[in-house]
Amino acid sequence: MRVLLTGATSLPGLTLLKRLLECGHDVRCLMRSGSPNLMRLKRECSEIVHGDAGNEASLVRALPGMDAVAHVAGLTFAPQVVAAMRRSGVDRLLAVGSTSVHSAYEHRSGHRKEMEKVVRGSGLAWTVVRPTMIYGSELDRNMRHLLRFLDRFPIFPLFGDGTNLWQPVYHEDLARGMLAALERPEAVGRSYDLPGAAPLTYRDLVLTAAGALGRKPQILKLPLGPVRQALAFAERARLPLPVKSEQVLRLREDKAYPYDEAREELGYKPRPFHEGIALEVARLREVGMVRP
Ligand SMILES: NC(=O)c1ccc[n+]([C@@H]2O[C@H](COP(=O)([O-])OP(=O)(O)OC[C@H]3O[C@@H](n4cnc5c(N)ncnc54)[C@H](OP(=O)(O)O)[C@@H]3O)[C@@H](O)[C@H]2O)c1
Repeated sequence: MRVLLTGATSLPGLTLLKRLLECGHDVRCLMRSGSPNLMRLKRECSEIVHGDAGNEASLVRALPGMDAVAHVAGLTFAPQVVAAMRRSGVDRLLAVGSTSVHSAYEHRSGHRKEMEKVVRGSGLAWTVVRPTMIYGSELDRNMRHLLRFLDRFPIFPLFGDGTNLWQPVYHEDLARGMLAALERPEAVGRSYDLPGAAPLTYRDLVLTAAGALGRKPQILKLPLGPVRQALAFAERARLPLPVKSEQVLRLREDKAYPYDEAREELGYKPRPFHEGIALEVARLREVGMVRP
C-alpha cells in the first residue's frame, strides 16, 4: 500500500512509520516545513513532502499516487484531511483519535467527538483508532517525566488516594494495532480503543515505574484541591514537576477501557505495563536520561 503519513515525527507516528516500512508499504511523510524534528525523519523516511495537515490545498498536493492516509497529526485536522482525500480520490483513511473522547469532562471530549463525527460522515473507507496515554522510548512525553522525577527524588507526592485507573499503551503495541486497523478490510467503518493490557491504579503505576528503576520512593499522600492550585502556580514559575495541574484534575477520572473488539478483529495484544516500562527505563538509561 502507498500511504501518506501525517504526524510522522511524533512517537506514535514514528513507530507506525517503522512498522509500515518493515511490512513492505511505501510511505510518504507529510511534515511541517518549520518542524524541529526533521533529522528524526530523515533517517527513516525516504520520501518527505513539506505541508500542513490543517491546509487542504497542501494535503491535495501531497496525495497524488497514494492509496491511503494514516493521519496521526491530530483529529483536529479531520475536516481538511477528509476534504483533501475526497478531492484527490484517495479513499482509505486511518484516523488517530484518543480515548479522551470517552471523558466525562466536556473540554477533553467535546471537540474529539465532533472530529470523529467528521470522519464517520466522510463517505471514505475510514477507521478510527483511539490510543490511551502512549509511552515508551526517549520520545515519550508522558511516563518519561514520571521516571525522571522518580529517578531524582526519594519522595513521591501522590495526589488524592491514587486509586483511579490508568491503562497506558506501549508505542510498539499501538503501532501494531494501528497497522492492523489500516490493513484489514473488515476494519473499515469501525472505531477501536487501543489501550495497554490491563488497567492499574495510579499508585500501582507509580510503584511499578519506580520498581523498574530499582527505586522505592516514600509515598506522600496529598489532597487534590490545594495541590492543583499549588501546581498551577509552580507551572507558571516553570518548576520541574512530575504531573501537570490539568492532569491532577483528571486524576479523579478512571481511564480504563476494554478492547475486546480490537483483540478479536485486529489481533490486538498489548503488553502489560511492567514490561513496557522496563523497556523504557532500559532505553532512557542507554541515552543517559536516567541514572544507571
Ligand atoms: N501522546 C499521547 O499520549 C496520546 C494519547 C492519545 C492519542 N494521541 C494521539 O496521537 C497523535 C500524536 O500525538 P502526540 O501526543 O504524540 O503529539 P505530538 O508529539 O504533538 O505530535 C504531533 C505530530 O503532528 C505533527 N503536526 C502537528 N501539527 C501539524 C500540522 N499542522 N501539519 C503537519 N503536521 C503537524 C507534528 O509535527 P512537528 O514535528 O512539526 O511538530 C507531530 O509529528 C495525535 O493524534 C494525538 O491525539 C496521543
